[in-house]
Order: sequence, then structure tokens, then C-alpha cells
Amino acid sequence: MKAELRVENISVSFPKTGQILDSISLHVNQGEFVSIIGPSGSGKSTIFQSIGGVLLPEKGEIFLGDKKITGETGHISYMPQHNSLLPWRNVLQNVLLGQELHKKTNLDEAKSWLSKVGLSEYEKAFPHQLSGGMKQRVAFIRALISPASLMLLDEPFSALDEFTRLDMQKWLLSIWEKEKKSILFITHNIEEALFLSDRIYILSERPAKIVKEIKVEFPRPRNEELLMDDYFQKMKKEIFAELKGSR
Ligand SMILES: Nc1ncnc2c1ncn2[C@@H]1O[C@H](COP(=O)(O)OP(=O)(O)OP(=O)(O)O)[C@@H](O)[C@H]1O
Ligand SMILES: [Mg+2]
Repeated sequence: MKAELRVENISVSFPKTGQILDSISLHVNQGEFVSIIGPSGSGKSTIFQSIGGVLLPEKGEIFLGDKKITGETGHISYMPQHNSLLPWRNVLQNVLLGQELHKKTNLDEAKSWLSKVGLSEYEKAFPHQLSGGMKQRVAFIRALISPASLMLLDEPFSALDEFTRLDMQKWLLSIWEKEKKSILFITHNIEEALFLSDRIYILSERPAKIVKEIKVEFPRPRNEELLMDDYFQKMKKEIFAELKGSR
């Protein structure tokens, strides 16, 4: 299968912090769900900034299909880690932003997704009136309805409690199975990565290298019973040990 996204040997350094990414290569196949897991501050969000084109790596190239997109914005839909909602736009206007950038807005689609995540009553509310979890849901819907076929999600559920998180994970899987988007997902949470992904990349401490690539072959559709599965628990322990060893 032809990879939809290919990141080839990218390296990034910042003047004060020094080298952050050390020759990172990864790929996401068409329709695949891939996660990146790694220590705090290792450079995960920096990888996304490079793929999103807001940061130009000093070395390496990034391809979407056959097209070289290194340093170019506008090719993928990107949910950044920290609140990216525009404070002067209400919820509905924020959600429509991703489509506006592609000059193709669909008001009904935006409203119907807001309703599915329980935010119908907040269409006219402004970001400062929302909780952290609600803001995450708005930013997530914005990324989802953007027409790009690859979504980058940077810890999208970190502000949610355990139960809401599980609901959102199941919901994300059900949408992903229907919409056939390709997803690259950052998380700190080993269980979340295992539950959602087809493959997981484990990063080292800074400067980040990929220390391991793990295939996750649990059948789909997956539900929460998987979390109790012996083999699931075994993989969770292995990834934990791998992360501990990479510190
Ligand atoms: N624009 C920048 N200028 C200088 N240093 C930066 C810049 N952006 C990120 N860094 C540094 O790069 C390192 C990696 O940051 P990054 O946000 O990629 O880590 P992360 O793995 O996403 O961390 P977390 O898990 O906490 O989200 C950090 O030490 C950070 O201070
Ligand atoms: Mg980050």
C-alpha cells in the first residue's frame, strides 16, 4: 500500500534548546490510524508543526502522496495541542474555520457534529465560556470536518475525564471507520494508543529518535472489553518498559 504521509529523516533544532528531532522518519498509510507516544518535552508537537508546515526542518523532507509538502501549510487538518480556538469567533464560527480555509463551508454538517458532541446549545458561545474539554471537542470537530484526508491530532482528549475520554475514543473510532480518514495521533497514554491504533511509534527523550515501531493487530471494531484482555495488558507493560528504558 502506498503511504499517504511520509516523513523522511527530519531534524529540527532551536537556538536555545538545541537539537529536538534527530532524523525522524515515519509514515501513515491511506486510512491508517497511527500514534506517536513519547516522554514529555521530547519533541512530539514539533513533529506535527513540521508536518503542518508551520516549522521548516533543517534537514529531511515530508511527502503527502507524491507531493513534497515540506514547509507548506494547508495540506492537512491539524488539531494543535493547546487551545487553538479564535477568541473573537463563537463556537460555530470556530468550527467552520477549517472549511473556510478550503473555501467550502457546510453549515448543516458543522451543526450536526456539534450536536453529536453535545454542544448544540453552545453554538453561539465564545471560547472563554467553555470548559477545557468543551474547547477540545470544538477544535476536534473543526479538524474533522476540514476536507483534508489526513488528520493530525495532538493529545486531543487530554482535558477529559476518564469516562468522557473513553466515550470520545469510541466515537473517534466509529467516525474513523466510516470516514476513512488517515490519522496521526499524539498521546501520553499507552492504553489510549493501544486501543485506537494500527501502529505506534515510540519516541526517545530529546533529541527525539524513533526507538520502536509496534504493530497493534487487535481486530476491529474494538470496544472497552479489549482493555481487560491479557494480551492487551501484556503489550501495555512492554510499551511502558520501552518508554522507561528510553529515558
Ligand atoms: N519555537 C520554539 N523555540 C524554542 N524551543 C522550542 C520551540 N518549540 C518547542 N521548543 C522546545 O522543544 C522541545 C520539544 O517540545 P515539544 O512541544 O515538541 O514536546 P512534546 O513532546 O510535544 O511535549 P509534551 O508532551 O509536553 O506536549 C521543548 O524543550 C520545547 O521547549
Ligand atoms: Mg506536545
